[in-house]
Order: sequence, then structure tokens, then C-alpha cells
Amino acid sequence: MGKLNGKVALVTGGGGGIGSAIARLFAAEGTSVVVADLPAREPDTPSAAEKVVAQIREAGGDAVATHEVIGEWASGQKLIDRAVEAFGRIDAVVTAAGNLAVSSLVDITEDEWDSINDVHMKGQVSVLQAAARQMIAQGEGGSILTFSSRAAFFAPAPAYAAAKAGVLGLTSAAAIELGAHGINVNAIFPSAQTGLFPGDASSRPIAGGTPFVPDIDPAGIAPIVVFLASPDGAPITGRWVYAAGNDIAFYDLPLTLANRPTLLRGSERWSIESLDEVIPSLLGLSVR
Ligand SMILES: NC(=O)c1ccc[n+]([C@@H]2O[C@H](COP(=O)([O-])OP(=O)(O)OC[C@H]3O[C@@H](n4cnc5c(N)ncnc54)[C@H](O)[C@@H]3O)[C@@H](O)[C@H]2O)c1
Repeated sequence: MGKLNGKVALVTGGGGGIGSAIARLFAAEGTSVVVADLPAREPDTPSAAEKVVAQIREAGGDAVATHEVIGEWASGQKLIDRAVEAFGRIDAVVTAAGNLAVSSLVDITEDEWDSINDVHMKGQVSVLQAAARQMIAQGEGGSILTFSSRAAFFAPAPAYAAAKAGVLGLTSAAAIELGAHGINVNAIFPSAQTGLFPGDASSRPIAGGTPFVPDIDPAGIAPIVVFLASPDGAPITGRWVYAAGNDIAFYDLPLTLANRPTLLRGSERWSIESLDEVIPSLLGLSVR
């Protein structure tokens, strides 16, 4: 008897490194899983999603594959329809499909911008909308896990960074809106060796103050995702959660003031001159 016995989960990017690990763990915990990923590149070969479904079934689990293209608005509803058609309901949605472009601001093209933002932004919001409508109609709560990245704040790749930062706004807004329906919504910041990010741990920049982790097997991301979708994780919502190897961290909530106070409350309107007197020392900048 697993922690999520009888539940139904959709995992987009479920044929990929992180998504497949999550799909397998959901199934091992008794959840029926819709594994969503791109169709096979070659005719008459199994798709990545079909391979994961075969692994899950071999291990005694229940799963189906589907091949909607994430980034087309209509795909969100089609994916939820697939879950309802196969298993009668939806309880957990994980939006782990992702692509990457690392062009700099001065080089990026409109096509690259659209491709990244379609998959990460439109792709996630369209799935979240369809999932939320279905979960609200079921009236039994649910869980949504979005995928962001520390690249939102630390990478010189504007399309990917902007899309991943946008995912955080989407996650916060969804958490606020859906809390009343018992649906928790959290964003994952993963680090794992996958097709999208092939390098081993030694190639990872230390970003966001998290320590070096030697183990970045994508399987390390799955437990916290499945926990957050379980009854024990239900009270946790609107959080940004880092996961890499065996490391998990809950980032401070956004817009909280740092330990070193940075709030300036003027007794009258600030002037450029009066700001110049206080801001350098407030931020620890050397005085020009
Ligand atoms: N691996 C990391 O270190 C890392 C770091 C930060 C964020 N992420 C994010 O984690 C998520 C999972 O990535 P991953 O590392 O497992 O990469 P991955 O390439 O192994 O998996 C991503 C999957 O998404 C699928 N996909 C891509 N575009 C699609 C589309 N339009 N429609 C349907 N499926 C599509 C791919 O086929 C692939 O199977 C992504 O959102 C990624 O941006 C990963």
C-alpha cells in the first residue's frame, strides 16, 4: 500500500531525466500515471514516454503514455482529458517538460524566445488551467508541481531565465487562487544530470548559496515532488523548493526582507541626495 494509492498523476516531460524518475516513483507509491512527452523521432520505435510506461508496468504499476506537444494551449486540456479517460480523475500534476536555449541578450532571436516561452510558460499555464478546473470539479483538492530553475536569477540566458522566473509568478498566483480548493502549488528548482543538462556535478555553478553536491542523479528530485503531492505535503503551498542529489532546501519566501534590514522608511519624500547618503552603506557598497 503506497502513500498515494489510488491517486492519478500527470507528469509532463515524463520521458525525460527528472520526469521519468518522478513518474516511476509515483507509480511505486500506488499512483496511476499519465506519462506525457514528445512522440518518437523514428517511426515504429517506442517514444520516451512509452519506454517509461513499459518500465512502470514491468514493475507492477499502472501508466499510460501520451504525446501532446507542450506549448500549444489546447494540449493542456487534452492531457487532463487523457488522465480522466484512462483513470477517471486527476490528483497530481507535475509540469517537467522543458527545452533550452542559451543565446545571450544580444544574440537571441524571436523564434528562440517564442520556443522557450511557449514550452515553459504557455506550456505550464495551459496544463495548470485544465488541471485546476478538473480538480475543482472533483472537489477533493489536489497538487501541482511546477518546474523553475536557479537560472531564473543566475544564468546569462534571457529567454530561459525569463521563462523560469515567470513560472514563479505563475506558481504563486496559482497557489493563492487554488488554496481555497485544497490544491497546493509549489515550484521545484532541480539540479540533475539529464539530456537537457548533461554535465556532471563538477560542471555546475554554485548558485543561490547552495553547497556543492556530488550526486545529481535525477532520481534525487522525485521524493520531494511525490511528498508534496501526498497528504502529508498538502499544507505546503506557494513554496520554492530546491532539490539536487540528496539535498533539499526550502528557499525563503520571495519579498521577505533579508536578515540585514534593507527597509528604508523616510520621514519625508526621499531625494536623490538623501538616498545617496544612506544606500551605499545600507548595501555595503564602497563610497565613490
Ligand atoms: N536538469 C537540471 O539540472 C535542471 C535544472 C533546472 C531546471 N530544470 C528543469 O527541469 C525540467 C526537467 O528537465 P530535465 O533536466 O529532466 O530535462 P530532459 O530533457 O531530460 O527532460 C525534459 C523532457 O521534456 C520533453 N519536452 C521538451 N519539449 C517538449 C514539448 N514541447 N512537448 C512535450 N514534451 C517536451 C523532452 O522530450 C524531455 O523528455 C525542465 O523544466 C527543466 O527546465 C532542470
